[in-house]
Amino acid sequence: MLRSTLLAAARSPHARKIVESTPLTRPVVERFVAGDDVDAAIRATAEVVADGRLVTLDHLGEDTTDESQATATVDAYLNLLGRLDSHGLTQGAEVSVKLSAVGQSLPVDGEKIALENARRICSAAAVVGTTVTLDMEDHTTTDSTLGILRDLRVDFPWVGAVLQAYLHRTEQDCRDLAHAGSRVRLCKGAYQEPASVAYQDKADVDLSYVRCLKVLMAGEGYPMVASHDPRLIGIAAELARGRALDSYEFQMLYGIRPDEQRRIAAEGNRMRVYVPYGDEWYGYFMRRLAERPANVAFFMRSLLTT
Ligand code: FDA
Repeated sequence: MLRSTLLAAARSPHARKIVESTPLTRPVVERFVAGDDVDAAIRATAEVVADGRLVTLDHLGEDTTDESQATATVDAYLNLLGRLDSHGLTQGAEVSVKLSAVGQSLPVDGEKIALENARRICSAAAVVGTTVTLDMEDHTTTDSTLGILRDLRVDFPWVGAVLQAYLHRTEQDCRDLAHAGSRVRLCKGAYQEPASVAYQDKADVDLSYVRCLKVLMAGEGYPMVASHDPRLIGIAAELARGRALDSYEFQMLYGIRPDEQRRIAAEGNRMRVYVPYGDEWYGYFMRRLAERPANVAFFMRSLLTT
């Protein structure tokens, strides 16, 4: 109930106005978001990379309905990639892109514009020697995102994508993408989805995650295990037995279980942290609140006690 309310609020302009105008929201947002600008993103990246973890950077923004805003997002990624290069961080850091931030949801030619914009980001990533992973948004975009992934991979075979275990279709998508050279970031899924397309019970989502993991770990691609769930991380480690340590990786979000991130990296595993930055933090922040009731309590406490 709380989860659905928060996820509905994540897409409500009215709720957004209220949450954004509360100055006390800021300290809680800072737990999950590296900062407002590229300088903050570079600082956070350097800090994470310094202790042996890897990074994927997200310039925050989604559901763009204005083409010039989509272009501005592309420019922000190009600037970010240049800065990663000039700071010598491209070995440890890649970028994650939401296609709805670069045009996918534009009413006219959205998919075509998103493909061309994503292509510009991929070209810039290729120049500095790093990779791009496509985030996955709500289920109405899954086919379009996987189509754009296929097109991008013709010129940039290293482009990866996220798959969400809560969708009924995902086990089959994992089979389709478990081939050599394919990079799949498997997560549970963070959006409000109907029962017609997604498992509703946490236990069913977890079972689906394990089935998907089995497919990816048995395949020839590069599985990226994106979860903070200790049980699933343990199962992934078991399933990865026999694979080279550099043939898969674990991933977690910035600000969530940082000690566990360091522990996993210290054991010799590749551990990547998803680092979001920018001032369009509202949707991302609300999804983090929705994932864990304790975050809402933390947020409410900070409002009441400051
Ligand atoms: P689960 O929610 O069961 O959490 C397990 C444990 O982790 C909790 O008990 C708690 O200890 C900790 N935890 C989890 N979330 C927390 C939070 N917000 N605050 C504090 N502690 C928390 N989703 C999507 O739909 N599209 C996408 O593209 C991506 N991309 C993505 C990239 C990466 C690198 C990660 C790690 C996750 C995503 N996600 C995502 C989000 C994902 O779908 C999911 O919502 C969250 O990872 C939470 O699910 P867990 O697997 O962590 O399990």
